[in-house]
Amino acid sequence: MGSMGFKVLVFGLFLVNVAVLCNGGSTSTFVRSVEKAVDMPLDSDVFAVPSGYNAPQQVHITQGDLEGKAVIVSWVTEDEPGSSKVRYWSENSKQKKIAKGIFVTYRYFNYSSGYIHHCTIKNLEHNTKYYYEVGITHTTRQFWFVTPPQVGPDVPYTFGLIGDLGQSFDSNKTLTHYEKNPTKGQTVLFVGDLSYADNYPNHDNVRWDTWARFVERSVAYQPWIWVAGNHEIDFAPEIGETVPFKPYSHRYHVPYKASNSTQPFWYSIKRASAHIIVLASYSAYGKYTPQYKWLEQELPKVNRTETPWLIVLMHSPWYNSYNYHYMEGESMRVMYEPWFVQYKVDVVFAGHVHAYERSERVSNVAYNIVNGICTPVKDQSAPVYITIGDGGNLEGLATNMTEPQPAYSAYREASFGHAIFDIKNRTHAYYAWHRNQDGYAVEADKMWFFNRFWHPIDDSTTHSSH
Ligand SMILES: [Fe+2]
Repeated sequence: MGSMGFKVLVFGLFLVNVAVLCNGGSTSTFVRSVEKAVDMPLDSDVFAVPSGYNAPQQVHITQGDLEGKAVIVSWVTEDEPGSSKVRYWSENSKQKKIAKGIFVTYRYFNYSSGYIHHCTIKNLEHNTKYYYEVGITHTTRQFWFVTPPQVGPDVPYTFGLIGDLGQSFDSNKTLTHYEKNPTKGQTVLFVGDLSYADNYPNHDNVRWDTWARFVERSVAYQPWIWVAGNHEIDFAPEIGETVPFKPYSHRYHVPYKASNSTQPFWYSIKRASAHIIVLASYSAYGKYTPQYKWLEQELPKVNRTETPWLIVLMHSPWYNSYNYHYMEGESMRVMYEPWFVQYKVDVVFAGHVHAYERSERVSNVAYNIVNGICTPVKDQSAPVYITIGDGGNLEGLATNMTEPQPAYSAYREASFGHAIFDIKNRTHAYYAWHRNQDGYAVEADKMWFFNRFWHPIDDSTTHSSH
């Protein structure tokens, strides 16, 4: 669908893929059309409602516990509640089991949601393919997923990275490129801003439904790990909607209690060889707040002997050299960056800015209000910061960058795309970013990550290549 529009877009591209050196990092000179991304119309095939009475739609899964032995299955029925049960079985066993779930509904201005079901399947075997069915007693639909290996230090695992996806023709390209990437992602780390329903009059929540039908083809089969972005807030007092995150928190359940969090907006999971911390840019994070206290307790619990890779997800980036959302992440950086350096976070993924950027390992933690020391410096204990908010939503690309490119910025480019973080063992992970204009296998930016705990040597890409 939308192939005509896409062909026009491709014809409009002026393909010059030469990096321009500046202060050590590079700004890609890849030039593309500046047309605004357009949302797919409501009658698009990707939004089709499955046939059959009360057929489950918008099926999505996410991790359901701390270590990957549980899965939360969610879906929506429109005609009547129907059953909240999930029937599931492993491919090695004919014995079918039933898990019981719940359903919720909500109203948002003049919109009434369908029946939103959430069912947690527990005590699964690791590294096993499971089939599951929802819609029991009415129209049944079947899907499958593969559980992760048992948590351990040298377990290879492949994460996909998508942010700020939305539901434009470009969003569809991004998801297709992720699916067709020859390096197969096993779980998506989604860094926030899902549907962009709030860009419609009265935050038309129908666009939450269409978005969930659009991404079902991926998220019904592999977990997406959710981060709340600003487009999940849906705070609209002008129409009487004063409960932040109402649509998001009814539709997307996460296993926050398993990591002793008190709110679904910040939590952690372990998966394979990674400890993944999700932070909330739009919940209080100052000293004494629940998120602050949680993170203070959480970081010392990270056991790099069990999970060598420490990954943090958030929506608003701390290091961003585009002239969009400039310094919005600054106050959270001031609060938490010293901890990230102390605990040697390997990588931080954020979204929000609709473009791509990768930093050097830098920190900016010396400033103390009187000494004036406020320039980011190279720091081998610091994470690499990656902005991957280029999923392709209707707001379009962020193309305007601060000049000159700051020294900490290793690579930046205003293109839609996705990335893959491919953990090989406790010391090495291979990372690549893919722009939508290229073939599925093309790596537009890439880097070997050396683990900060087990192999903390310089893995910068700019000092060696130039
Ligand atoms: Fe955002």
